[in-house]
Amino acid sequence: MVTASGIGRWQGVQVFITGHSGFKGTWLTAWLVQEGADVVGYSLNPDTDPSNVLHSTALTQHVDSRFGDIRNECEIAEAIRGAKPDVVLHLAAQPLVRSSYEDPVGTFATNVLGTVHVLEACRKSESVRAVVSVASDKCYENLETGQRYRETDPLGGADPYSASKGAAEIVTASYRASFFAQDGPLLASVRAGNVVGAGDESTDRLVPDIVRALRTNKSIVLRRPEAVRPWQHVLEPVRAYLMLATALYSGDQTKASAWNIGPQKGNSKTVEQLTRALVARWGTDIPIIVEHDAGRAESGVLRLDTRKAENELGFVPWLGFDDTIRYVVDGYRALDEGSNLTDVIRSQTVAYASLG
Ligand SMILES: NC(=O)c1ccc[n+]([C@@H]2O[C@H](COP(=O)([O-])OP(=O)(O)OC[C@H]3O[C@@H](n4cnc5c(N)ncnc54)[C@H](O)[C@@H]3O)[C@@H](O)[C@H]2O)c1
Repeated sequence: MVTASGIGRWQGVQVFITGHSGFKGTWLTAWLVQEGADVVGYSLNPDTDPSNVLHSTALTQHVDSRFGDIRNECEIAEAIRGAKPDVVLHLAAQPLVRSSYEDPVGTFATNVLGTVHVLEACRKSESVRAVVSVASDKCYENLETGQRYRETDPLGGADPYSASKGAAEIVTASYRASFFAQDGPLLASVRAGNVVGAGDESTDRLVPDIVRALRTNKSIVLRRPEAVRPWQHVLEPVRAYLMLATALYSGDQTKASAWNIGPQKGNSKTVEQLTRALVARWGTDIPIIVEHDAGRAESGVLRLDTRKAENELGFVPWLGFDDTIRYVVDGYRALDEGSNLTDVIRSQTVAYASLG
């Protein structure tokens, strides 16, 4: 089946997704299930995993969920060997900057060594033809100059999360050069910015924190109101993952590299601008309190140069800032009014795909 967005054919394709139960993983899984892919997901045990979004959706019936830990090389190797996937999408990670300060060892173990284990399992697999590894815009050495980072810029990261994503990118490039260049699967990575959308209930993440304040009519406390981020709806990077996976699966070696995926230029806004836009769209007037956080450092300005994706992949972001806010608020609102997240994702994916 060819999608409305022209991404490709997924009917009958065997897809293995790490981190499928998380926020982005659930949107990605929903899109792939909608396209007819056979999805095997691999995530932490839902009983002990606060990031599990999938369990509350009707999607669970359509996905073969396996639970384990990518820090355990044997477990993830066995899962990939058993699933015999054509395509692997690697999202599993400890994705929060603040949590990375509390548990740097766990963050590096999951994000760096976990990536090694996933790629090693792909290397040994006889079925895998395409791998997309999900990175972050925080993988760059951020000089705080306001410049837009290109894929060739130095990797780095002061906080443990950013450093772990930079290190994971070095691992990915090494596997591509050392093992996958001749006859291994084609491997790409995607560096995307701050992703927003309904279903994300993470603690210590801006949009879920704002939504919780709006739901309970409480004030919102902003720690870094002036920080600029490239806010993008989750459907934008998910579409990029699928475009890349499609190209790699069809054998297009020119796509086996690192890619910046960002929103439209007007979506780079401060934390305070995003907050005010969400509050205005929600329609409940609650106090916004600014408390400058002198504690843990986070980058101030983060901007991506996305010309490579535009010119060589044909990826152009479809949602401007106002549409992004509308999708986010309408999605959370629908959930609060009793809709299942699967239905919210399905209707927003269809509306979004029609933009293409
Ligand atoms: N959300 C964002 O704004 C954003 C921005 C840039 C990059 N990313 C990246 O996107 C990916 C997904 O992020 P998210 O926001 O959906 O995260 P999330 O916290 O919602 O989900 C994380 C997923 O990874 C799984 N996981 C975590 N540790 C694991 C382990 N040790 N073994 C097996 N599974 C494990 C969890 O079970 C869950 O399914 C991550 O790689 C993250 O770094 C996210």
